[in-house]
Amino acid sequence: MAAGGDVPCAVLALLVLGSLAAGGDATAGFIKSPLSQRRLTQDSVELHCEAVGSPIPEIQWWFEGNEPNETSAQLWDGAWQDRVKINATYNLHSTSTIYIANLTSEDSGTYECRASNDPDRNHLSKSPKVKWIRSQANVLVIERPVIIGQHTSSAGEVVLTCNMSAPHTPIRGHKWMLGDKTLKTEDDNSSSYISYTIEGKVEDHSGVYECIYETNPVAKGNVSIEVPPQVVAYKKSEHGNEGDTGVLTCKSPSYPPVEVWSWSKSNGDVSLFDSTRIHNDTVNYIIHATGNKTELRILKLNIEKDMGDYHCNATNQKGFGSATVNLRVRSRLAALWPFLGIVAEVLVLVTIIFIYEKRRKPDEVLDDEDGTCDAERS
Ligand SMILES: *[C@@H]1O[C@H](CO)[C@@H](O)[C@H](O)[C@H]1NC(C)=O
Ligand SMILES: *[C@@H]1O[C@H](CO)[C@@H](O)[C@H](O)[C@H]1NC(C)=O
Ligand SMILES: *[C@@H]1O[C@H](CO)[C@@H](O)[C@H](O)[C@H]1NC(C)=O
Ligand SMILES: *[C@@H]1O[C@H](CO)[C@@H](O)[C@H](O)[C@H]1NC(C)=O
Ligand SMILES: *[C@@H]1O[C@H](CO)[C@@H](O)[C@H](O)[C@H]1NC(C)=O
Ligand SMILES: *[C@@H]1O[C@H](CO)[C@@H](O)[C@H](O)[C@H]1NC(C)=O
Ligand SMILES: *[C@@H]1O[C@H](CO)[C@@H](O)[C@H](O)[C@H]1NC(C)=O
Ligand SMILES: *[C@@H]1O[C@H](CO)[C@@H](O)[C@H](O)[C@H]1NC(C)=O
Ligand SMILES: *[C@@H]1O[C@H](CO)[C@@H](O)[C@H](O)[C@H]1NC(C)=O
Repeated sequence: MAAGGDVPCAVLALLVLGSLAAGGDATAGFIKSPLSQRRLTQDSVELHCEAVGSPIPEIQWWFEGNEPNETSAQLWDGAWQDRVKINATYNLHSTSTIYIANLTSEDSGTYECRASNDPDRNHLSKSPKVKWIRSQANVLVIERPVIIGQHTSSAGEVVLTCNMSAPHTPIRGHKWMLGDKTLKTEDDNSSSYISYTIEGKVEDHSGVYECIYETNPVAKGNVSIEVPPQVVAYKKSEHGNEGDTGVLTCKSPSYPPVEVWSWSKSNGDVSLFDSTRIHNDTVNYIIHATGNKTELRILKLNIEKDMGDYHCNATNQKGFGSATVNLRVRSRLAALWPFLGIVAEVLVLVTIIFIYEKRRKPDEVLDDEDGTCDAERS
């Protein structure tokens, strides 16, 4: 019944394409057949089918469950409470992809791709001259195992563990990941209770860690380490020139992400800024806050008003954290001081020399005249 298998498909395709080139009618043939797959409940599955023929064949999808009393039923776009999506194209040849979301174990069974270009293929009473050709794939949906992830921390060490209950298939190994970084891989370890140890403080290692069991299909669990924001200032002290814009920056690499950033200043009086306050004539502050980073811009720096300690404060689901940045504002002239110093030094020197010269010269002239006189006299 099934026209699956790669070699017959390819041969058929050549034959069909050959007769297409010859310009005659050609019965439908598969050039791609759906592949059998295993999935966990709540996963999704995608099956793909392609056929050629002249005229271009129609593709249908049919399902037959594993229950003995089940009969074959056609699937359409939007079936099964909208969990079924079908995307078909009919250009030059026909392609069809069926996509089933949020699988349940009742979705296990045989999925059949049917193709035909017989003009009577959908006729209710007349049977078509050429039968529908069929290609089947089996989908096995396995109950998703429960994986419990936990972490404990003690002096200088964080231990992550995952425990998988009732493994559905043999465990060939496992690995630990953080984001797209693989932290540890253990092949040939069939243990369902696995662990990973991190050196250091729990505050410095927040994030969502994944434990991945090499089963068929792969089963994933996670361990979420959540801490209050560990805020750090980009620079503990910043300098700016009077009249320029001062930029203070704080970051938090922690998980969960920061929900609210705020800035405050303690300088005798305490003022609080939040990201809703924007620059206008009276308020010279702009706050940029993007997830794990915040930036306070102070426009037209003023020596008296703006010097001091600024605090950035981050809040997430686990609490808050803050850091302090000290801002120093230099006078515009400050940059000129070394130059002015040299100029002053030169001026003083020139003045001294000038005064000295002025005082000395008349004496020397007198001495000289005396000498000349003496010489003339002798
Ligand atoms: C098949 O039988 C099961 C019980 O064995 C029943 O729950 C189900 O509704 C039946 N399905 C069909 C399509 O008749
Ligand atoms: C349907 O398939 C076409 C061609 O493969 C693709 O461009 C399009 O994005 C698909 N649409 C959906 C909703 O998947
Ligand atoms: C998936 O199906 C289950 C029941 O089978 C339902 O409770 C759940 O809400 C569904 N999830 C989604 C994302 O549709
Ligand atoms: C793992 O979970 C099972 C129950 O699912 C429990 O019996 C077992 O004690 C757990 N193992 C560890 C090491 O906690
Ligand atoms: C498998 O890994 C666990 C920890 O992840 C370890 O306790 C156990 O000894 C390992 N088993 C083997 C056979 O290596
Ligand atoms: C972690 O696992 C829980 C339950 O197992 C799930 O609800 C959650 O979406 C997972 N989180 C991530 C980031 O994968
Ligand atoms: C902040 O988040 C962005 C993306 O959300 C990421 O690329 C960047 O590495 C993060 N920075 C820190 C310090 O965590
Ligand atoms: C500027 O901000 C101050 C304080 O938030 C506010 O009272 C004032 O109305 C604002 N002025 C303008 C023009 O938006
Ligand atoms: C930071 O913000 C939180 C919540 O808004 C507040 O309770 C806390 O006192 C602030 N901490 C500092 C140091 O400003």
